[in-house]
Amino acid sequence: MTSTTKAAAHARALEAILIPARIVPVLTIARAEDGVPLARALVAGGVNVLEVTFRTEAAAEAARAIIVEVPEAIVGMGTVLNADDLRRARALGAQFAVSPGATPELLDAAAAGDLPLLPGVATASEVMQAQARGFGLLKFFPAEQAGGMAMLRALAGPFPQVRFCPTGGIGAANAAAWLAEPNVVAVGGSWLCPAADVRAGNWEVITGRCRDAMKSLRRG
Ligand code: 3PG
Repeated sequence: MTSTTKAAAHARALEAILIPARIVPVLTIARAEDGVPLARALVAGGVNVLEVTFRTEAAAEAARAIIVEVPEAIVGMGTVLNADDLRRARALGAQFAVSPGATPELLDAAAAGDLPLLPGVATASEVMQAQARGFGLLKFFPAEQAGGMAMLRALAGPFPQVRFCPTGGIGAANAAAWLAEPNVVAVGGSWLCPAADVRAGNWEVITGRCRDAMKSLRRG
């Protein structure tokens, strides 16, 4: 299998995970011990595809614990910046990786490797670079700041076959509108579990917010 074919197969596998999920919470976990209760709170609210960002020292330990102790969760590693991060994500047992942008080094490593990557893009040139390597499912980041829905619709013109997971500036007020776009498979964001709720261990509040979100975003 060529690397381009492999990247396309990864995109399809990732789409199969993201379409039913609808929302991918972006988790920045400050204390490793918060990972498991946070993941359980999200899963209890119907949200089971999680992105644990590599932004904190606790990230790897938290992700490993979630993968072992919360088998209902499908864990991806986020803020993957280079091939080394991709290797770390795979070694942890993550099922996918997410990057805020894309470098040729990262795209080539992901296209040649086993872990599906959702690469970040914000411009037509970036879409072209990802597409040239077989990546047809992309994170549009930062979605609101990079032109919002008008930008996404403009990208749909020259790239009708590309699918997106917008992330950045998405919350309860606009998630449904983003999900109604025909080229959007899911949305990402941090709004379901604000840092203050995680710090305070407000797990039931997080579960309730997830339930409300999933109810309001159910496909008709
Ligand atoms: C991020 O990578 O920080 C995510 O895009 C989350 O963005 P948000 O905090 O605006 O949801």
